[in-house]
Amino acid sequence: MKFFSPILAATILAISAQAADNKIDFAKEIQPILEKSCVQCHGPEKHKGDLRLDSKEAAMKGGKGGLAIVPGDTAKSDLYRRITLPKDNEDVMPSKGELLTKSQTDLIRDWITQGANWPAGLVIKSTGAPEETKVEPVKLADYKPSAAELKAIAKFGELGVAVRPIALNLNWREANFRSLNTNATDAVIAPLKDILGLVDLNLAGTKISDSGLANIKGLTNLTHLHLEHTQIGDAGLANLKGLVNLEYLNLFDTKVSDAGLENLKELARLKNLHVWQTKVTDAGVTNLQKSLPKLNIVRGWELAAVAKKEAEPAKKEAPKKEVEPAKKPAEAPKAVAEPAKKIESSNKEVGALRKEAEALRKEAEALRKEGEAAKKEAEALRKDAEAEKK
Ligand code: HEC
Repeated sequence: MKFFSPILAATILAISAQAADNKIDFAKEIQPILEKSCVQCHGPEKHKGDLRLDSKEAAMKGGKGGLAIVPGDTAKSDLYRRITLPKDNEDVMPSKGELLTKSQTDLIRDWITQGANWPAGLVIKSTGAPEETKVEPVKLADYKPSAAELKAIAKFGELGVAVRPIALNLNWREANFRSLNTNATDAVIAPLKDILGLVDLNLAGTKISDSGLANIKGLTNLTHLHLEHTQIGDAGLANLKGLVNLEYLNLFDTKVSDAGLENLKELARLKNLHVWQTKVTDAGVTNLQKSLPKLNIVRGWELAAVAKKEAEPAKKEAPKKEVEPAKKPAEAPKAVAEPAKKIESSNKEVGALRKEAEALRKEAEALRKEGEAAKKEAEALRKDAEAEKK
């Protein structure tokens, strides 16, 4: 009985010889994986889990959870365990982006089995996409206003400005200074700096100045900010740089120009920016859009201006055609139709603005009524604040 044919035996020998020969070349096979998929989070800038994978010394030291690589023992190597986990496992690496392929994890397995050789002095630089900077989402629960905050709220209450919770049992607040109009000077709004729980602030139509905006510099929980119809310019926007949770910013009818928009580049959560009737140009918009590609920049005035320009020559032409015998009556309306559509859309815009004005009038009325209630609330809050001090 022959169990092994000589040919088979030779083949087995050949294969095992090849396997032994198949020594992993770190620089060619492992380095590219680490530099593309790991070092952006485990390198000189970021060392997640206290682990760096850019040099031999660092990698062999391991991280928070102990050793990551145990030469010769994949079962004890946390690094190998993590790169072979399924995508939905919370320990899987890379923690973001595409998982390694089977052939890549096999290379790493063989590299570890063969002793995790790493040429001395070889330092890996990241070629992977930098990890996106994550902005911590606003935590709604657990916010407790300070005594200073309660005092400031009480003060505004006396002026008839209600700094109201945005929902029942919440300490996040909104404030609308629109009803004070130009009585809302920098000095009047100064106590805003203590109301850290503000998420929605309306300073539209107030007398706030660029330097007055320094008072809201620290209100990092703000998500909505109205500055339309104010004297705010580029210098003022420098105060908004740190408002990382801002989602909505209205600069309609202000002195802001392209230079001011530079201050907004890092506001990763910004979704809507209104810059009608400002000095902002196409170049400024394009430039900001490069940093914030998802940002919706509203420049309604531009549409209106284009429509107006195109409508003008059409108006001049129109009478001429009327005088001529109407040979082709179908043509004249066609020539007017396009600009007319635009006029119509700009009329619609005017209509919308008129409606907004009406809504604001109603809001002002409501606010006046609330002023009374706010005064009472202020009284109660002042007592609260005093109690807190004791
Ligand atoms: C997007 C960032 C990111 C990338 C890319 C990434 N990691 Fe991580 N890594 C983390 C974070 C965050 C932790 C800490 C949290 C945890 O332990 O899960 C971590 C932890 C680890 C740990 C455990 C460290 C310890 O001792 O606690 C290992 C091992 C690890 N990563 C290996 C890798 C490998 C290998 C790659 C590339 C294939 C990789 N990581 C790519 C973010 C990343």
